[in-house]
Amino acid sequence: MTHRVIEPSALYVGTPVYLVATMNPDGTANLAPASSHFSLGRMLVLGLEEGGQSLDNVRRHPAVTVNFPSSSQWQHVERLAGVTGKDPVPAEKSAQYEFEPRKFERAGLTPIAGEIVDVPRVAEAPLQIEGRVRRITGSVDGAFAMVEVEVARVHAEVAITVAGTNHLNAEAWHPLLYAYRTFFDRGAEVGWTRKNPLAQPPEAISQWEGAGGTWEVIAAGQGRATVELRRCDGGEVADVVTLTDERDVRWAMVQAAVARPNLGGK
Ligand SMILES: Cc1cc2nc3c(=O)[nH]c(=O)nc-3n(C[C@H](O)[C@H](O)[C@H](O)COP(=O)(O)O)c2cc1C
Repeated sequence: MTHRVIEPSALYVGTPVYLVATMNPDGTANLAPASSHFSLGRMLVLGLEEGGQSLDNVRRHPAVTVNFPSSSQWQHVERLAGVTGKDPVPAEKSAQYEFEPRKFERAGLTPIAGEIVDVPRVAEAPLQIEGRVRRITGSVDGAFAMVEVEVARVHAEVAITVAGTNHLNAEAWHPLLYAYRTFFDRGAEVGWTRKNPLAQPPEAISQWEGAGGTWEVIAAGQGRATVELRRCDGGEVADVVTLTDERDVRWAMVQAAVARPNLGGK
C-alpha cells in the first residue's frame, strides 16, 4: 500500500444523513439536513454548526426529532441544502443560502406530530427518533457544538424491522450515506459480527455442543462451510458437517474470522 499526505476539504468518510427537526421561536418547525453524528447506547450525539437555526433552536427548546431518510429520498434532502431557517441569513452563509421559514414544504416532506416531544417527525422517513437534548458542548474551534440527545422513542417503518422483534432488519434498511459531497446507497452485506442476532449456531452444532462436544470451523465461504465435530475427550473428530444454508454459512464465517483469521472469506 502506498500513501501520500493530502489536505482534504472534508474529513467525514461516509455517514448516514439525517434531517433534524427543531422548534423555532414562533412555534413552527425547522428542518435541516446534517450527517455528523454518532450513537452509543440510548444517546445520540449530533454535530451542529454554530450560526445555524437548528443549534439556536435546541439551545432555547431542548427537543428534537432525528429522521433518517432512505437512500432513495436524497432529492428531498438536497432541496434543503441551500436554505436556512435563520433570518437574516448570517453574512458568511449569504452567498450560498437563502432564508426559508417553511422547510417541510420546501423539502416536499410531511410533518407528523411527535408522540413524546413537541417537535414534528418527518412522516416519509423510515426511521424517526424523538429525543430530549441533555447537554450542548461547544467545539474547541468554536465552529460547531456537540448536541447530546437522549432518545425517548424510536419509530421504524414496519418494512425495515424484523417481525416480532425489536430489531431493525439490516438487509432491508438503506440509509442515505453522505461522503465527500456525494450521496450513496449502501453496498451488499460483506459480513456479520458475532453479536448479530441472526448469528445463531446451526441446529447440528448446538446439539453437539449441548452434548458436551466441541467443534471447529475448517472452511467457510462461497456458499458452504465445513465444521468438524470433536469429542470432548481428546478432541478426536467424530463427524464433519457441511453447511450450505446461507445463514449457517454466515455464522461459520464469523467463527472462522475469530478463530482462524487466515480462513475468513475462503
Ligand atoms: C448532506 C448534508 C450534510 C450536512 N451535514 C451537516 C452537519 O453534520 N452539521 C451541520 O450543522 N450542518 C450540516 N449541513 C449543513 C446544514 O444543513 C446547513 O448549515 C443549514 O443551513 C442548516 O439549517 P438551519 O440554519 O435552518 O439550521 C449539511 C448539509 C447537507 C446538505
